[in-house]
Order: sequence, then C-alpha cells, then structure tokens
Amino acid sequence: MKFRLLAGVVALAAVTSACTPSVTTVSGTHAPVAVCSGALIFADDFEQFDLEKWHHENTLAGGGNWEFQYYSNNRTNSFTNNGILYIRPSLTSDQFGEGFLSSGHLNVEEGATADRCTNPQWYGCDRTGTPTNILNPIKSAQIQTNNSFNFRYGRVEVRAKLPAGDWLWPAIWLLPAFNTYGSWPSSGEIDLMESRGNRNLTVKGVNIGVQEVDCSLHFGPRPDLDAWQKTTWSQRRSQGFNEAFHNYQLEWTPDFLKFCIDNEEIGKAVPGTGGFCEYGKFNNNDLNPWKYGTKMAPFDQKFYLIINVAVGGTNGYFPDSATNPSPKPWKDSSTTAATDFWKSRDAWLPTWNLDKNNGWDASLQIDYIKVWAL
Ligand SMILES: *[C@@H]1O[C@H](CO)[C@@H](O)[C@H](O)[C@H]1NC(C)=O
Ligand SMILES: *[C@@H]1O[C@H](CO)[C@@H](O)[C@H](O)[C@H]1NC(C)=O
Ligand SMILES: *[C@@H]1O[C@H](CO)[C@@H](O)[C@H](O)[C@H]1NC(C)=O
Repeated sequence: MKFRLLAGVVALAAVTSACTPSVTTVSGTHAPVAVCSGALIFADDFEQFDLEKWHHENTLAGGGNWEFQYYSNNRTNSFTNNGILYIRPSLTSDQFGEGFLSSGHLNVEEGATADRCTNPQWYGCDRTGTPTNILNPIKSAQIQTNNSFNFRYGRVEVRAKLPAGDWLWPAIWLLPAFNTYGSWPSSGEIDLMESRGNRNLTVKGVNIGVQEVDCSLHFGPRPDLDAWQKTTWSQRRSQGFNEAFHNYQLEWTPDFLKFCIDNEEIGKAVPGTGGFCEYGKFNNNDLNPWKYGTKMAPFDQKFYLIINVAVGGTNGYFPDSATNPSPKPWKDSSTTAATDFWKSRDAWLPTWNLDKNNGWDASLQIDYIKVWAL
C-alpha cells in the first residue's frame, strides 16, 4: 500500500513537472523524442556493450594521418567488463602471423553488414603488404554514435582512464553528423580529449606523454587552413592521466565551447559577432563556408561521439623532435613509417605491458559517458 501510494506521488510529480524546452537538438535512433532543459539525453555506463548505440569503424584507413592501426569490430579490441569499456590494442600478427604483414592481402570490404568497410579513403578497404610497406601492424577499435545519437549543444562528461604505452594515441572526440558546411575541417571537429601514451616523452624537458591531455577545435575553410592552433589547450599533471579515472567535460552552448577536466577549466572558445571566421582570422570572402550560419558555425550543427585508440601516424602529433627513452622509430616524412615502427617493436612493445593484467595498462578505459541538454 505504502509503495503504491509513493508510486502514485512520483507519477503525479512527473506529469506536473513541466518540460522546459531546450536549445539542444538531437537526432538518431537513441535520441529522446522530446528534449527538456537539463535532462540527461544520452548515457552509457557500459554495464553491457550496446552495439545499437556504438557503431564500430572497420577500416585500414589510418584516420587520414597514416596511423598504424586496423580498426575492426572484434571483442579482443573493444569490450565491456565490470561496467568499464576497454579499447585495447593488439598485434595484427597475433591473428594472421608475422609473414602476413609483408605479403598478405587484407580486404575488409565484404561480409555481413556489421563487418563492412566504413572508410575507403586512404586505401582503407583493401591493402596488400610489402616488405617496405607492411599492412597495419596494430589492431584496435574506434566506436561512434553516428547513427544512434547526434546532438547540437549540451554538456558532455566522460569518465575515463587513459592508456600507457609508447606511441598510443587515445581520443574522445566529436565529428559533424552532416557536414553542413562542407568536408573536413569546414564543418568542424571537437576534440574533448587526446593524449600520448608514452610515459616519458618530453619536449624541452616537459612531459607531453601521459602527463598531458589536449583539447582542441578544428575548423577552417580548407584542410590547409585549419586554425586549430588558436583553439588548442593542454592540461599537465605530474600524476599521469593513465594512473586514475578523470572526468573529461565539454560545455557547448550557442555562445561558447568550454573544456574542463574534473571541473577545472582547460580552455574556452568564445567567438565574437564575426564568428569562427574572425576567430580563425580567415578573410570573410567567398571562401568563408559559415557566412550563412550563426556566430558558432560550424559548431552550430549536430555532432556525434567517437572513442578510439590510434597508434602512431605521420601528422606530427608525435613530434620527430621529441625525446623518448627509446627514440621515435619513424620520421613523419618517411614513406615506410609503419614498417619502421614495426621493426622497432622490441623497444615499444614492452612498454604496452600486453602480457600483464590482461593488457589493461594499454587500454583506454571508460567508466561512463553522459550527455545533458542545456
Ligand atoms: C578477433 O581478434 C582476434 C585477435 O586478433 C583474432 O584471433 C580473431 O580471429 C578475431 N576474430 C575475427 C572474427 O576476426
Ligand atoms: C555510420 O554508421 C553506420 C551504421 O550505423 C555505418 O554504416 C556508416 O558507415 C557510419 N558512417 C560514418 C560516417 O561513420
Ligand atoms: C618513465 O616514467 C616512469 C614514471 O611514469 C618512471 O617510473 C620510469 O623510471 C621512467 N623511465 C625512464 C626510462 O625514464
């Protein structure tokens, strides 16, 4: 009786509490039908791995940076255990043998719908290994909400523990759902967290490995005009971000984008009336893709969430000039970067500790992700 009464009171409260409309907008199979101000609109505590929410990338493409990983949908590389999502790298040679890297053929185009290639750019669906140009030597995972949940404006919190291991590149980020202003970077990119897994990577004595986390916005009218350097911020802590869980937070409103870690502000982009064209110091001419958008354009459209662990790459995220106990085994200008990397595995593989504790040191671990409407 008592419980019934209580339930009745709760139900009444739910009916009478008004839904204040929010400026946040959403779409996707897991988006709420109505968005009320302040409401939780997307959440995953990873008690199970819900592949209706999270779509796996399946590609050899290397993210446009010639990164060294092969992303696929495989529970060796992405799984949940005791309420934690793990993204854990492994060696491609474990599956196919070592000789396969320099002579094998990987075609990820075929198969069941869930196994089809997701990105054909940069030879992403079909590669043949050669002794100088080996197949992607690392297997890893990237998961996205691109079909299940897209949103514009809101608050995001991801509780995560970062991987440690030389040349690992974990990221929690967002891409535009519809490229309203054109292809990358015209429609923007929001990097809530990226980091380098090296424990002892330094530039001028400063640790840029596990003791640093970077938050950035990418935007510009063309790939060679990406003004991210005006909107990138780093946070350093002497206790590495691999040592404990932290909350990575984004507040995204019609006036600003703000990044925080554990409620401490890391960086904030506040465009003036001239919008991101002015912010990036681009000429307001025909090149400006955002002239019919709001001052927040391209960040006034829906984005989706992405979580991944990449490895290496040649875009400078791991600078050639940085110092590491065992030096970076490839140059960004090298045409044989993945091969150079693989040949020096005796130096980096022990830092991943894959043989200890299920390889969890080298795993990106996510406790939960939550998104609230403004
Ligand atoms: C998943 O990955 C493991 C380890 O690399 C491999 O042995 C297995 O064959 C893979 N499964 C599929 C279905 O590709
Ligand atoms: C989005 O997700 C669908 C499956 O849900 C997939 O087929 C498609 O390739 C994905 N698109 C992008 C741009 O990642
Ligand atoms: C690297 O850093 C760790 C602490 O993060 C330390 O224990 C270790 O001694 C360092 N190794 C080298 C080679 O400097």
